[in-house]
Amino acid sequence: MAETDPREAAGATSWAVSAGAETEGTAHAHCPAWVRDLNIWTDEGLHRDPYPQYAELRSYPIGRSDRLGGYYVISRYDDVLAVLQDAVNFSNEHLFVPPTRDPSGRRIPIELDPPEHGLYKRMLAGFFSPQWTRRFEPTVRGIVRDLLAPHVGRSELEFMSSVAVPLPFRAMAVAFGLPPGDADLLRGWDDQMRSGTSDLDARKRASASVRVKLLGYFADLTAARRAEPIAPADGLVGMVDALVAARVGEDKRELELDEMANICVTMWNASLHTTANVLGNTMVHLAARPDLRDRLVADPSVIREALEELMRYESIVAQARLVRGEVTVGGRAMRPGDHVVTLTGSAGRDAAVYEDPDSIDFDRPVKKHLMFGAGLHRCIGSHVARMELRVALEEIHATFPHYRADPARPSRRHTGLERGTESLHLLLGAA
Ligand code: HEM
Repeated sequence: MAETDPREAAGATSWAVSAGAETEGTAHAHCPAWVRDLNIWTDEGLHRDPYPQYAELRSYPIGRSDRLGGYYVISRYDDVLAVLQDAVNFSNEHLFVPPTRDPSGRRIPIELDPPEHGLYKRMLAGFFSPQWTRRFEPTVRGIVRDLLAPHVGRSELEFMSSVAVPLPFRAMAVAFGLPPGDADLLRGWDDQMRSGTSDLDARKRASASVRVKLLGYFADLTAARRAEPIAPADGLVGMVDALVAARVGEDKRELELDEMANICVTMWNASLHTTANVLGNTMVHLAARPDLRDRLVADPSVIREALEELMRYESIVAQARLVRGEVTVGGRAMRPGDHVVTLTGSAGRDAAVYEDPDSIDFDRPVKKHLMFGAGLHRCIGSHVARMELRVALEEIHATFPHYRADPARPSRRHTGLERGTESLHLLLGAA
């Protein structure tokens, strides 16, 4: 879950799927040209607004593109869920198309398959538990208040750079137990990686170089903490110290330094722009709908439900999988070595599951969504992310009850690996 990218809608030819499984050849023959040519990461149409193309993809229902080494596009809710829940036939070894291998090895735990994956997952899920998250909430509330305070009395705010992006950086710096000031250093590397180019290959190279720096940083930090453990004054043990203390496997061994660094980098990267993008996307929709905003101002207890609905409305993550077995999804036969891309954003708009899926309804009876994935690799940080998002919305609505989108400066959005928001200009005073 990182990097960004763009698409084009052309022939609206629809191709029916027969009751039996089709082979790759027949799938190809019936696929409309725009699907066969679809670069899921860089398509301009998807960047602007992915939902019309997602709706068309769901009607096929399994598309196949020749680009990026060739891959199937999984767009219906039931099919996305089936793939995510089947860790035997769908491996996490390649989460990107075309498949890439980082020289530093597979990312722990997200690129591991069972049984190796379970060793780490059990330990990490225990750390980011609901209990730990409850104790962490006052810290997050303090961070949100600090971020909002300089804007009180002002008339406008660029939400992404002022609140949505700094919030997870600061919160995770505390959650990890980083030395004070290091969040800014790590934020600087991240900015460096994201600025300057829209070329996907150049961004991949920048991302690989920042990964090397992060691995070095966390290897040094875990080594220092192993030599000299710290006991936090508030008793809230950070993740780095929890890893140093952890014992894994049947022989209850300590983690190696490179394992700890690998885990820290995966967790760090997974926890930042995901949360920032969900918060930004949520505010894009609330800022455009004063009726929804007013309801949250009048009754903050609705915020939990509102968040679930907005996460369904824009589930942001697209993940690839490597096919390991002979398996059929949505009537399409797949073979070992094939690649698929699952679109949780499309699953969230599937009319087979949600009534009137393109409207935002806080009182919707069906609350489920795939924003945090499903199955073995379901998000470890969902409790902490939900808390961060809820606390942010509580504080924003208490502090700026009249915010709305600035019509002169429309928000900039993107899709790709994650659907997100690059800028969101808000007017803060009463209209
Ligand atoms: C709103 C914010 C977030 C979203 C939308 C999100 C989404 C996801 C999704 C969809 C997956 C599944 C990936 C897959 O199936 O391949 C995932 C996995 C993961 N997430 Fe999150 N995430 C968020 C926040 C966080 C946070 C705050 C952390 C850390 C504290 C985190 C750590 C992870 C890790 C380590 C995995 C891999 C789990 C595994 O492989 O078993 N995420 N996340």
